[in-house]
Amino acid sequence: MARPKVRSSLDLIAGYHSAQVDVEVRLNTNESPEPPPSGFVDALKESLDSLQWNRYPDREARALRDRIAQVESPLVSGGLSAENICVANGSNEILQSLCLAYGGPNRSVLTFEPTYALHQHIAQVCGTDVKHVERDSEFQLDLDQALAAIVEHRPSITFLCSPNNPTGMVESSSTVRAVLDAVESVDGLLVVDEAYGQFAAWSALGLIEEERSIVVTRTYSKTWSAAALRLGYLVAPTWVIEQLDKVLLPYHLDAVTQAAGLLALEYQSEMEQRVAGLVGERTRVSAALADLPVQQWPSEANFILFRPLGPAAAAASADTATGTATDTHTALAGNFGDLVWQGLVDRSVLVRNCSSWPRLSGCLRVTLGTAAENTKFLDALGDVLT
Ligand SMILES: Cc1ncc(COP(=O)(O)O)c(C=O)c1O
Repeated sequence: MARPKVRSSLDLIAGYHSAQVDVEVRLNTNESPEPPPSGFVDALKESLDSLQWNRYPDREARALRDRIAQVESPLVSGGLSAENICVANGSNEILQSLCLAYGGPNRSVLTFEPTYALHQHIAQVCGTDVKHVERDSEFQLDLDQALAAIVEHRPSITFLCSPNNPTGMVESSSTVRAVLDAVESVDGLLVVDEAYGQFAAWSALGLIEEERSIVVTRTYSKTWSAAALRLGYLVAPTWVIEQLDKVLLPYHLDAVTQAAGLLALEYQSEMEQRVAGLVGERTRVSAALADLPVQQWPSEANFILFRPLGPAAAAASADTATGTATDTHTALAGNFGDLVWQGLVDRSVLVRNCSSWPRLSGCLRVTLGTAAENTKFLDALGDVLT
């Protein structure tokens, strides 16, 4: 039997995976290092007692959307209502819904590389063409190039990840405004992915207005200590939310997730304290990295991108960032990244190995964990590098 073929556009797409290794300290997927605040699980169990298991969940997830609107309103002039909020199984599902509604055949999305790989991946899975603009040697957006690419390609969706994964860098308000003006000039939609928004000093939520083509995605997976929940949301003008209703499956968000999402928001001050703690750890870890032979990038997220500089990699570091590295230099830097990653694993610390990712030869990304985990990471890295 000849096996049925998948769509030809899927032929070259690989699945998205993050290596999981059994170690003591897991700092590879940007999760919160702590479980939800005490009281959350008991309150959830109690709320499940009154759940009507034989009934479909509230299709509109009204209570949850109301509450998210309330929580995010202070950042949005004019405020928000449930009509500005869409909820789904992780912000990845939100991104997929945006691509299903606004992408598709004969349309394109634009990404600024390096960035979150799922923007490109999801767009492709939805049959959308993907255009890229390379960031500069310091991984900053070259605004002139970005604006020119928007005018040239007229993408249906432009993705801006801020803070950007994997670099941790934030786009300024003036940059986002300029990109938004260009996106609107070609009748496109600007999607600002703020999966790490609460760790940064500035949010694009303040730019949301009913007559502007900008949406912001956020998630429970990082700040709300609830990656297991699979809950993400979109803050957007009402006309975007109305269109997404056409592509979301009926009852896509189960009743348990809705209840848990609602309850988690009762712990806002605990969440803010945790974020402040992680931001403090970010400063401490970054200062400690500065004393080691590594290159690092300034982060406003809950992770730091760094490139260990070995004897061979040091020679290559300057030119790999510019994209002008020789194959030999790139290979050496990449190999050194692999070696350091393995050295950390041998010391029971897992970070994300970005060595083989385009432009990131030799780079590793460490998620900020608890103070004790971060100290273990720093000790292990110091041990490997000296
Ligand atoms: C930039 C960015 N956006 C979205 C996501 C997906 O998050 P979620 O767990 O809400 O699907 C991630 C996860 O790591 C991310 O880094």
